[in-house]
Amino acid sequence: MTEPAYLAATRHGYDAIAESCAAPYRAALDDAPLDRALLAGFAETVRREHADPVTLEVGSGHGGTAAFLATHGLDVSGIDLSAAMVDFARRTFPQIAFRVGAMHALDLADASLAALVSWYSLIHVPAGDRPAVVAEFRRVLRPGGYLLLGFQVGDDTRHVDEAYGHAVALDFHRLDPDTLAATLDTAGFDLVARFVRVPEPRHTAAPIPQGVLVGRVRGQDAAGDPRP
Ligand SMILES: C[S@@+](CC[C@H](N)C(=O)[O-])C[C@H]1O[C@@H](n2cnc3c(N)ncnc32)[C@H](O)[C@@H]1O
Repeated sequence: MTEPAYLAATRHGYDAIAESCAAPYRAALDDAPLDRALLAGFAETVRREHADPVTLEVGSGHGGTAAFLATHGLDVSGIDLSAAMVDFARRTFPQIAFRVGAMHALDLADASLAALVSWYSLIHVPAGDRPAVVAEFRRVLRPGGYLLLGFQVGDDTRHVDEAYGHAVALDFHRLDPDTLAATLDTAGFDLVARFVRVPEPRHTAAPIPQGVLVGRVRGQDAAGDPRP
């Protein structure tokens, strides 16, 4: 697959801000008890059905989300477009394998994962490319494999050309849960859970709702048998 043009802007943007945005990005999870509960519940759900809970976080950034999932029993690794982000994550969480990679063309065999997590990273993929990326997630998941998506809810795109004192060209696409659920359905996922929380008033980040969808590869259990 040829690399789409938007990836270069995203990669350069996160390379530029990797060191300076570390504290606020990590605080985001520390300050979000419901997100932590969802991530912990997701990890337990995966472990209940998959004895070998091999998990990939795509767009793993500073590594905090992957590290949280690891402490909840998932055998997690991370990929990120940005080498600077990967470098930061490796230094901070040396027990976890992080590597450079792109979510639209994963360096993994078909059906090799029990779970895949995209926590605020699919937000950088333009709408037209999202179905192909979700199909790529489906390709690498085993029968009964789980998908977790975290995102900002909306129908617009926030373009940022300056962040933490650096010139960047980053697009943050808000995602509509109905449209995303339909994309999951088309790719072969059953919807397991759908969650929207209103912005927490004390959060300094953009006051917009936050969404979570959980999908499961349709029609089979972890052994590959038909699931009613
Ligand atoms: C908002 S950060 C979220 C980081 C992390 N998931 C977390 O929870 O803190 C988005 C990350 O996704 C990465 N990213 C964006 N598009 C990507 C793509 N197509 N493939 C891999 N990583 C991507 C960025 O480089 C960035 O590190």
